Amino acid sequence: MLQSISSITKEDVALIYKSLSKKEKEKFKDSVILVTGFAGSLGYTLLHFFHTYGEELGIKKVYGVDNYMFGKPQWMERIRQNPLFDLRELDIITCDLSFAKKADIIFHMASLASPIYYRLHPIETIDADVAGLRRLLDFFKERLLKGFLFYSSSEIYGDPEPSKIPTPESYFGNVNTCGPRACYDESKRFGETLCYNYARQYGIPVTVVRPFNNFGPGMRINDQRVVADFAKAIIDNEDIVLYSDGKPTRTFDYIPDATVGYIKCAVFGAFDIFNIGADGPELTILQLARLYQEIGRERHSYTGKISFKTHTDQEYLTDNPNRRCPDITKAKRLLQYEPQVHIKEGIQRYLQYLKESNRREYFW
Ligand SMILES: NC(=O)c1ccc[n+]([C@@H]2O[C@H](COP(=O)([O-])OP(=O)(O)OC[C@H]3O[C@@H](n4cnc5c(N)ncnc54)[C@H](O)[C@@H]3O)[C@@H](O)[C@H]2O)c1
Repeated sequence: MLQSISSITKEDVALIYKSLSKKEKEKFKDSVILVTGFAGSLGYTLLHFFHTYGEELGIKKVYGVDNYMFGKPQWMERIRQNPLFDLRELDIITCDLSFAKKADIIFHMASLASPIYYRLHPIETIDADVAGLRRLLDFFKERLLKGFLFYSSSEIYGDPEPSKIPTPESYFGNVNTCGPRACYDESKRFGETLCYNYARQYGIPVTVVRPFNNFGPGMRINDQRVVADFAKAIIDNEDIVLYSDGKPTRTFDYIPDATVGYIKCAVFGAFDIFNIGADGPELTILQLARLYQEIGRERHSYTGKISFKTHTDQEYLTDNPNRRCPDITKAKRLLQYEPQVHIKEGIQRYLQYLKESNRREYFW
């Protein structure tokens, strides 16, 4: 049976609404939105936000495009019942975009963001980030847009030198062009170059966002990113398995918290680049595992241990960045973006959401 929206998601989208300025909300009045890759991790929160507040914001239509590369999430059936939405099974590389010609705010998320999956499908990853983006930019270059957001990645920085942590947008990166991660990192980098040049040549108000390690409701629990792996271990009461020595560090941002930043970027209305993510705490993967374990024990009767194994994917750790932490001074200054959900609270909310949800909401 189709579940109603979880209480966690209701609170999350309310937080997003509250965090947008009056001017940002007004940009949505009479707008037509196009979201590519809506069925992925970040699409869940964005679409539930429009589902809940679309009418209040005066949005006319939300088109969604996804090729369901990883299957169809059950939650989209709930969204589909809302006449505001027109969600289509299409590939951004080949589809006829004319149905969305009135769109004036674009969110280009289609990609393969989980390293395990982009290593399995490198060409499809490059296509979504380069060919798909190019098609969209070409299609919309002569149209009147309020905003066009390209989801790049913190991976464009590769493995930054220690002096470049926290990493500002001005850092050029330290990236291998030919390793197993290059299909993702380099296509995001070239995607940014496309955005920059379409903005210069055609005046498209395209903004680039570089998300830093998100987690939370909407992630497929079998997505094989570490934040989903650990959540699955807690929910299934199995050991948390680390496939590294646990020493690399990351900061982690709760998806709804980051979505505030993405929406602010989408209606920024001019070319610029923003890091969006949590600027602390920087945790080792082992510390993250311990935090999941602690919350699991406190709230979900979790009894599992932390163990170390070698991954069956031999390239699991190749070119894996040692440290990742954003400098978000620019987003704070120009967008008034301020992360609000601490990692501990985010994990609590994520696990609570999983506990309350039908398994088909997050496992497909
Ligand atoms: N989640 C993060 O922490 C994070 C971090 C950095 C960057 N990003 C970027 O943000 C965007 C969204 O991330 P996510 O975690 O939701 O990704 P995801 O991998 O969970 O979902 C991506 C979606 O895009 C769809 N897709 C892929 N190729 C397509 C194509 N050719 N045509 C239509 N649909 C296609 C997939 O079916 C999937 O539903 C991506 O561009 C990703 O690279 C995310």
